[in-house]
Amino acid sequence: MAASSSNNNTGKPDIKRIGVLTGGGDCPGLNAVIRAVTKDARFNDIEVVGFYDGFLGLIENRATYLHTSDVSNILTVGGTILGSSNKADPFNHRVPGAPAPVDVSRRCLEHYRARGLDALVVIGGDGTMSIAAALLNVEGAGDLNFIGIPKTIDNDLFGTDLTFGFTTAVSIATEALDRVHTTAASHHRAMVVEVMGRNAGWIALHAGVASGADIILIPEIPFDMERVADAVLDRAGRGKSFSIICVAEGARPRGGEQVVARIDPTSPDPIRLGGIGKLVAESIETMTALRGKPIEARYVVLGHIQRGGTPVAADRVLATQFGHHAMRLLKSGARNRMVALSCGALTDVDIAYPAGRQRTIPLDHPLIAAARAVYTSFGD
Ligand code: F6P
Repeated sequence: MAASSSNNNTGKPDIKRIGVLTGGGDCPGLNAVIRAVTKDARFNDIEVVGFYDGFLGLIENRATYLHTSDVSNILTVGGTILGSSNKADPFNHRVPGAPAPVDVSRRCLEHYRARGLDALVVIGGDGTMSIAAALLNVEGAGDLNFIGIPKTIDNDLFGTDLTFGFTTAVSIATEALDRVHTTAASHHRAMVVEVMGRNAGWIALHAGVASGADIILIPEIPFDMERVADAVLDRAGRGKSFSIICVAEGARPRGGEQVVARIDPTSPDPIRLGGIGKLVAESIETMTALRGKPIEARYVVLGHIQRGGTPVAADRVLATQFGHHAMRLLKSGARNRMVALSCGALTDVDIAYPAGRQRTIPLDHPLIAAARAVYTSFGD
């Protein structure tokens, strides 16, 4: 039996119990959001049910009550105390031993109601928002209320200018780029650092600009390997015997394909990118040698280091604001909205808005222009 959420005399919904889950890849700041939501809810006498492992917890009805004491001391802790899953999909649920995935979306509705929820706060990226939006379309889902909070280190979620976790990932990538400088300079090498971001180059662009990378390669601007070699040799010609290259995992040569590291058929988003850094480093060595001015190259793949550890201060602040804004939305009677940041202000959009879309970098983005103005090459 669902807890009552009928309007009382105040005209505001009478919220008694909410759920919270963290979906998709882990990301610095998830715990900060869980803390903000739980503390705000408990302060308002609202019970909080935390589902384990994203939508898998809702599918399997695995959850626990969250109390203020459960979220104390987690603001600075990476990962998520609830666990997460980037494979759970109620519409294609895989049961070990079963011949094919099954649709268990109705089971999610039953568990939502059995837990007596007035709303479920879903913290995640486009996959999480897409599943929430799809569950709302299941027959009989009329009373469900999902409030989304945008998370991803990639910053590629449609509908918000910023997601929490991104700034931490950029800081980690920037530090890595700063650190390879010494080896690059000491050994007169080209050092390639491959960063995450899926089909968007936000991490590469920001970390590349922050660290003064000489070449930034992003998915939005397919590169020409000859131009990359030109840029490296041009620097050498100006007495700069080393180059720093920041490449997004989704970057690809003009007319070529992205480099796929693995395909995970159990995931709703099966492609895992990775490997372009190696390709770029090897090509720099080959092309500079062919031109009679060989430059040695090395590559580093940062991988999940960008997702790990404590969130930077800005992400802790954003996560706390997002959590609070989600609770404000709930208490004001909003239904099926995703918290968003637009031009620096907290706002909200329909939770279905980001579904199936990716926010890539517009080619006229001012940061691309600023990077070009300090002689950064995009390999184009
Ligand atoms: O979306 C976050 C992200 O870290 C991407 O940048 C990356 O492509 C992907 O997840 C990696 O996924 P997994 O953790 O499944 O390898």
